[in-house]
Amino acid sequence: MAQTTQHELQLARRMSRLGTETAFEVLNRAKALEKQGKSVIHLEIGEPDFDTPGNVIDAGVDALHKGWTHYGPSAGLPELRQTIADYVARTRNVKVSSEEVVVVPGGKPIIFFTILALIDEGDEVIYPNPGFPIYESMVRYVGGKAVPIHLSEGRDFSVDVDELSTLITDRTRLIILNSPHNPTGGMMSRRDVEQIAQAIGDRNIMVLSDEIYSRLVFEGEHFSIMSVPGMQERTILLDGFSKTYAMTGWRMGYGVMRADLAAHVSRLMTNSNSCTASFTQMAGIEALRGDQASVDRMRDEFKKRRDVVVDRLNKIKGFSCRKPHGAFYVFPNIKATGWKSKPLADALLEQAGVAALSGTAFGDFGEGYLRFSVANSLENLEEAMNRVDAWTKKNL
Ligand SMILES: Cc1ncc(COP(=O)(O)O)c(C=O)c1O
Repeated sequence: MAQTTQHELQLARRMSRLGTETAFEVLNRAKALEKQGKSVIHLEIGEPDFDTPGNVIDAGVDALHKGWTHYGPSAGLPELRQTIADYVARTRNVKVSSEEVVVVPGGKPIIFFTILALIDEGDEVIYPNPGFPIYESMVRYVGGKAVPIHLSEGRDFSVDVDELSTLITDRTRLIILNSPHNPTGGMMSRRDVEQIAQAIGDRNIMVLSDEIYSRLVFEGEHFSIMSVPGMQERTILLDGFSKTYAMTGWRMGYGVMRADLAAHVSRLMTNSNSCTASFTQMAGIEALRGDQASVDRMRDEFKKRRDVVVDRLNKIKGFSCRKPHGAFYVFPNIKATGWKSKPLADALLEQAGVAALSGTAFGDFGEGYLRFSVANSLENLEEAMNRVDAWTKKNL
């Protein structure tokens, strides 16, 4: 029941520009249906269904016992910053020092802080659409102009460099890239990335490169724009632990950026969170330095599930689905069903007991698509596909 209040809530105007992440809303609706006794298969939330690897849990528990329960430096524990610097230097083939690393509670705060630190009112930010909804939300929140770049199925959901060139103006301050990509699973090839760098040329435009799925690659190789000569000082690389090590609830990610910007982002940390939890960071050191077999195992399992789900989707009336090369989502085209994305996602949740996201949860160019996460057991994924299939046979 709505609470009665004596005083009207007077929100700051900027709050009307703040968006959200629909996945959490769909999760709540799915939970409400389950409470009424309905069976729902959860394919809406983007988090690995695996447990955090045992060695990482042990390191976290050990750190708690050893007193890593206090504040630490805003930018992160020096040992973790160095470990991340070494890891990024190795995987992106660049030189990185620990002053260029800021550890934050999840990958998301790097999006928030980068945009807060770099974007003034009226500044333009080019971002992928469909894309992770927080990009557009944050740009609009700070009063920037969100300029979508359409990722189309015809181009396997990678950036069209010619289109990008036409979108760059004198007001462009930031370009956001995300590969492997949420929600489509699309990947940018090395050639794509090099051409994007060429399109940027020597303009003073920063790039936020969201590489949170960099270790979840099934075919091809992940290539960062940070690796392109001349681009490192204009790149903020976002990566983290949530997806790679199944650590979504530990809240830890990081940004790698030029040291002067890192100092400002650290100041935003001091003003907001003080620091990332110290024992979480100790577990992060173990995650990066320890045995990586569990990362490979998870990736192989996601690949197996992707193959099964894509195969099944392509046999369902009105659905067609390309094979994503990374991340753990599939993004079927549902235009031939004759349904719009949102009503179809709602119907599948309410009538078939399958929680998926409408493509429009990722921007206007997501119309005509649904996103299913494959971060669920093969058994549940098969059952979800049976349910969608049965629903389409009955309703289309
Ligand atoms: C593209 C992308 N970037 C960033 C994030 C944020 O990750 P974290 O949970 O570490 O904040 C997500 C999570 O879904 C994501 O899909």
